[in-house]
Amino acid sequence: MHAVVLVGGFGTRLRPLTLTTPKPLLPIANVRQLEHLIANLGAAGVTEVVLAIGFKPEPFLQAFPDGVCAGIPLHYAVEPEPLDTAGAIAFAARHAGVSDTFIVMNGDILCDLDLSSLVAFHKEHGAEGTLHLTPVDDPSQYGVVEINDAGWVQRFVEKPQPGETTSNVVNAGTYVLEPSVLNRIPEGERMSIERVVFPAMVADGTLAAMPTNDYWIDTGLPHTYLQSNLDLIDGTRTRILASVGAHAHVHATASITHSVIGENAIIEDGCVIIDSVVLPGAHIGSRVRLEKSLVMGTVGSDSSLLNCVIGADAQVMPNTHLIDARVPHPDEAK
Ligand code: GDD
Ligand code: MG
Repeated sequence: MHAVVLVGGFGTRLRPLTLTTPKPLLPIANVRQLEHLIANLGAAGVTEVVLAIGFKPEPFLQAFPDGVCAGIPLHYAVEPEPLDTAGAIAFAARHAGVSDTFIVMNGDILCDLDLSSLVAFHKEHGAEGTLHLTPVDDPSQYGVVEINDAGWVQRFVEKPQPGETTSNVVNAGTYVLEPSVLNRIPEGERMSIERVVFPAMVADGTLAAMPTNDYWIDTGLPHTYLQSNLDLIDGTRTRILASVGAHAHVHATASITHSVIGENAIIEDGCVIIDSVVLPGAHIGSRVRLEKSLVMGTVGSDSSLLNCVIGADAQVMPNTHLIDARVPHPDEAK
């Protein structure tokens, strides 16, 4: 079975981290997000993953030089220009010659869904497409879905206005699709699956959906990216990962609490690091205090950061005290 993974977004809400690393390649507890996601696809019997890339394939080619991720062969489909979700899925599926039932996943979610149960649900319903659904507190930033008791979608509203729907169950970004869905998407056309294709399938009565309550998170915001790391060292998920990556240098007098330290990161003497992620290659100088922060670059000695996001090329000067800051500021960074 094929799976198409959408990795073409710009990751703007996670800047400045995504200025140097595409969102799906950012590590979550020291394993790239894409690797987490593809391992889950492999467990459900996926034998080839098609990466739908909207622009710049180089970082992906570099990350997986032998064309394999989590033991699954990769097929790269690079759009001539970003084609939006439906355009990208159709481009990628045609590029890889998909001709049977296939899976689609947004590349920026992490979940513990048992994918084979979604495929089984899809087959039992004889659906043209089946969505995975999850409950959220604030549905306004998602595709909100209304279903009937038999599991058929009655309404799909992407990013609803206040009052437009009362459902708090949303599209969780994993789909099982029949190849006939591709006939709904003209070749080379820019089109949104959420705004155009799903509403058309609802009108035809061919779109099913399966809600579950397993762990689910969209990692696209600084606080959800941080949370997704901490959940993997806390035991919130079905597995627990180590919190210090290989070849990290942590001084014996540094105190690390509830945090993830990336590969090759350097933490000098007297640092206090709490509820934070220090990404691969970051350098944290002596006596720095980090709390609820994400750091890729360099932080000079005696500084303190609370709720900050520091990009790869940034150097925070010694003795700097920042709260709620992004360095470089996403508007100033190129
Ligand atoms: N290849 C390619 N080309 N990929 C794209 C493009 C494109 O032009 N545009 C977006 N993507 C990818 C993104 O990288 C991401 O993996 C996925 O498509 C969804 O785009 P987002 O920009 O992350 O959408 P969203 O988070 O606002 O909403 C989507 O996800 C929600 C769940 O997290 C929708 O599918 C919602 O309905 C859903 O609830
Ligand atoms: Mg998203």
